[in-house]
Amino acid sequence: MGLMNVPKLLKDHIFCKLNFYSERIQKCLHSATQKYIDANVHDGPKVFNNMYFLMTKIISTPISNNIIGEEESKYDEVITTFAEFTSDLLTFSKIPPFLNFFYPGLLNRILVSSGLYNPAIKHKNVLIKHIKNQVCNRLQEKAKYGDSWKRPDDLLQDIIEQENIDLNNVNYLVLADKILVFLYASIHTTSNGFANCLMDLASHPQYMQELFEEQLEVHKEADENDVLPFEAFDNMKKLDSFIRESLRLTGHILALDHSLLKDYTFSNGLQLPKDHTVKIYVDDYCQDELLQGPNPKSFEPFRHLDKNVSASKISKNFIIFGGGKHACPGRHFAVNEIKCFMHNIILKYNIYTESGKIEGRKMYGPTAHPSSSGIIIEKRSG
Ligand code: HEM
Repeated sequence: MGLMNVPKLLKDHIFCKLNFYSERIQKCLHSATQKYIDANVHDGPKVFNNMYFLMTKIISTPISNNIIGEEESKYDEVITTFAEFTSDLLTFSKIPPFLNFFYPGLLNRILVSSGLYNPAIKHKNVLIKHIKNQVCNRLQEKAKYGDSWKRPDDLLQDIIEQENIDLNNVNYLVLADKILVFLYASIHTTSNGFANCLMDLASHPQYMQELFEEQLEVHKEADENDVLPFEAFDNMKKLDSFIRESLRLTGHILALDHSLLKDYTFSNGLQLPKDHTVKIYVDDYCQDELLQGPNPKSFEPFRHLDKNVSASKISKNFIIFGGGKHACPGRHFAVNEIKCFMHNIILKYNIYTESGKIEGRKMYGPTAHPSSSGIIIEKRSG
């Protein structure tokens, strides 16, 4: 198994089939919302603290379904691994750099190589167990049904075929590593998007009625299982603008780290040496009236309406998904999931901040995280 082109694999096998996966994604998000939110608010309003962690569980349900398949994604331990892998790694990366004056990252390397602490191991073991289950099942089914075997539609099967993996001789450690790359790229980023959108809505309840009316109209197109046709997501114009605004104000001060592969000189003469890392100072573009329109600092959820820019459209004034050749290939997928989740929330619940105030992002140095303050969720009456 050689190096895998992750963006290409995702584009060819998941993102260009969003329409095909849409029903599965919607059903997974419905059931996860039912399990993690609805079941807790049956007897009245409830305060949810630290929404980010709940969001990692909710988003892990459709993502694990698309990645390792319908059967394995039903196991709680799989959802937990998908949900916790990235946050465990991020916690690990926050260990203070005590020994950095000897060598950058030395303490972390010692912890991993000595076996004292490696947050990835337990998650990798869970993944390997479930990938093995699937490989055994698929081998048996293939032997039983021969040419009439219906291949499962998921990224695991795509990787197996793309890389010509012999199912009788699988290197599970390498295969699990490949799958973990997808978890790393997708779970934390999308959970942040979910949690920020929820908090922004809870912080600005004055926009709820308008969004509710739009979602009610869109929902007329749903079938008896509450599944919307893929095209219906295009009719969520106000929600789309709301999501773009929430993403626009994600709140990082510095973002989009990039390493220089060679020396570079800007047209104004500024020189950047090879191997240095550069970051973007976000306020430069995010708080610029020329680029963002009036009141660039304030949250104005319908600012993007009628501007012909969907929430996943990258542009010079919107670089939350990066830009150019390496812009995030998962952005349409992520925005589609956020829309689907918010559609359910808006139709079913009223939400407010526990403090009754607008809750901003939580800052760790120059990086913003969703607020951990309480959100009150209550079922809509009627
Ligand atoms: C709200 C959710 C998301 C945000 C904010 C986000 C953001 C980003 C950003 C900023 C980059 C770097 C772009 C650059 O260097 O110019 C990136 C790259 C990438 N993202 Fe996302 N992402 C999200 C969701 C996802 C999802 C759901 C997936 C996969 C299922 C994904 C897969 C990737 C991959 C594979 C790359 C590397 C692309 C390359 O190097 O060519 N992302 N993302």
